[in-house]
Amino acid sequence: MDYNLAEKQIRDIVTKSFKVLDEVVEFLFKNFDQYSWVGIYLVKGNYLILGPWKGPNATEHTKIPIGKGICGSAAASGQTEIISDVNADKRYLSCFVSTKSEIVVPIRKDGKVLGEIDIDSDKKSAFTNKDKEFLEKIADMLSLHI
Ligand code: SME
Repeated sequence: MDYNLAEKQIRDIVTKSFKVLDEVVEFLFKNFDQYSWVGIYLVKGNYLILGPWKGPNATEHTKIPIGKGICGSAAASGQTEIISDVNADKRYLSCFVSTKSEIVVPIRKDGKVLGEIDIDSDKKSAFTNKDKEFLEKIADMLSLHI
């Protein structure tokens, strides 16, 4: 799907929905073929706790210590992580055998990480700077709903 159109439609969801996080996860999963699994983790103390997610399978990683895995690293640094080959990254916590690449985008408010968008792809190098820019805008929108 076109990123600008998706941004517009998500902005609409964010202003109108009562279940913003669930609906945005659903939208991203449905409209981007290369997004094979989409989830939102929320920071609770020193952990990331899995919130809404959409994908063919549930993950065993529903509670990740900040600093652990790709998710925990992004939460610790506050910076987006793009991993083009998950099997080449020692930090990677495996969820699905089919996953080849991953992007994790922190959701920040006032410099604090509140959570993150985590997307796995069954395609190698599925995520580009376009995805990063797009998802960082979505993360900003979500920061007002956590
Ligand atoms: N791969 C992540 C764990 C979460 S699953 O992708 C859903 C990581 O390395 O932190």
